[in-house]
Amino acid sequence: MLIDQGYVAECTADNIFIVHKGELITPAASQGALKGITRGTIFDIAAELGVPLREANMTRYDVWCADECFLTGSGAEVVPVVKLDGRVIGTGRPGDITQRVLASFRRRVFSEGTKI
Ligand SMILES: Cc1ncc(COP(=O)(O)O)c(C=O)c1O
Repeated sequence: MLIDQGYVAECTADNIFIVHKGELITPAASQGALKGITRGTIFDIAAELGVPLREANMTRYDVWCADECFLTGSGAEVVPVVKLDGRVIGTGRPGDITQRVLASFRRRVFSEGTKI
């Protein structure tokens, strides 16, 4: 979803992250993004993995040119995105940072002893 200035804010029930040159970027809450619980967990995971993360304005062009992209939400968890409007993002496959974030997320959520 875009805000009226044309920047990407988030998806219908998910926050969005892109990876650009080894850095994670997500739209700021001041740019229309919901401060999702899962989004917050990704901030913790990025710090734990030593992956730099910043909030910044994001255009559709930034998403198309990103190395990687993924969505986060309580329902979606962490979902790699490999295409936007028919254009392939990065290699067209879930990237290294996305896979590391996803693995760390699953360890946290489904760790031994977790009761759902
Ligand atoms: C508009 C919107 N953005 C993002 C999210 C993700 O938030 P959370 O990680 O807290 O589920 C949701 C969840 O319903 C949402 O409705």
